[in-house]
Amino acid sequence: MSKIPKPVIRRLAVYLRCLSELEEKGIKLVSSKQLASMLHIKDSQVRKDLSYFGNLGHRGIGYDVKGLARKLREVLGLYKIWSVIILGAGNIGRALANHRRLEQNNFKVKAVFDIDKRKIGKQIAPGLIVKNVDELEHFVRQNGVDIAVLAVPADVANELANRLEISGVKGIICFAPTTLSCKIPVEYVDITVFFKTLAHTIVNSSYNI
Ligand code: NAI
Repeated sequence: MSKIPKPVIRRLAVYLRCLSELEEKGIKLVSSKQLASMLHIKDSQVRKDLSYFGNLGHRGIGYDVKGLARKLREVLGLYKIWSVIILGAGNIGRALANHRRLEQNNFKVKAVFDIDKRKIGKQIAPGLIVKNVDELEHFVRQNGVDIAVLAVPADVANELANRLEISGVKGIICFAPTTLSCKIPVEYVDITVFFKTLAHTIVNSSYNI
């Protein structure tokens, strides 16, 4: 399989969400046109994205919903439960610790860490008591953590990312508005990027004329 561009990977994750909805409704077959209309994109885009994985559909019939969902889960690495920790028990850390769709998608939050003594020892979500960030390395090594979420102020994010990398975490989701210097894969989440992208789209769209 050739290297898949990131925008395609992002769309695959969205296709999978649509396929899961169809599976829940008991729908067995879906055409590229139907998938495209669920996402408001062109059906040629769907076919092009899915063609990375060989001939998955049947001409005139469409895609087998269960089979395609299985293939996309495999491609996205969702055949296992990913072990996740959250650094920062603030607004974002709390919201994520309580976000049930993470676990439904095979991302299991194992622990939340903070430096604030007023938060340490308190329950932040069902079954999750905030731990002292001093325990970070020990916990990561003992529990084989895969992914860490940085929901801490920007000025401490890099130091924590380096500690995570050294202790064996495989990837980071970074909410802090900064660029990390670690070598492990990082996905940056910045809501302002979406606002700016939308602003650009509005400014350049025909609705604006
Ligand atoms: P918050 O202030 O509510 O929570 C931050 C938490 O990090 C606090 O509990 C604090 O005690 C803890 N903390 C500080 N130093 C630490 C350390 N060394 N180790 C462990 N924990 C530590 O902040 P909030 O609102 O949850 O935001 C978190 C980060 O996300 C900030 O950097 C903020 O700028 C950013 N942010 C990003 C957004 C995005 O779209 N990506 C949106 C909103 C905020």
